[in-house]
Amino acid sequence: MPGASKFERLACASNDWIQVMVEGQPVKVRPGDSAAAALLAAGQSAARTSAVSGDPRAPYCLMGICFECLLEIDGVPNVQGCMVQVADGMNIRRQQGAPVLNDSLAAGVPA
Ligand code: FES
Repeated sequence: MPGASKFERLACASNDWIQVMVEGQPVKVRPGDSAAAALLAAGQSAARTSAVSGDPRAPYCLMGICFECLLEIDGVPNVQGCMVQVADGMNIRRQQGAPVLNDSLAAGVPA
């Protein structure tokens, strides 16, 4: 089935779930999951597109090395999705090409 996740969650003794938004769609995830894992669980294989070629890029190492998992999280671009734990209500979006930084982000000042 197109769009279905290729990942299967292992059984877990905990029954805690939180909800995040992935590309505007609600997704139930476990506390402690990474944003990249939430993206993959939602059936989205590409985290971003290349700023150079436009080709889709997917989380690869899931340990902060490859930078293929760059996401926009709660409006902040260029976040390594594999290094950020989900939080209830978090808004996760795929990054399309090079991010456009607003003035406050470019100046290093939180918006
Ligand atoms: S998947 Fe490699 S840095 Fe996140």
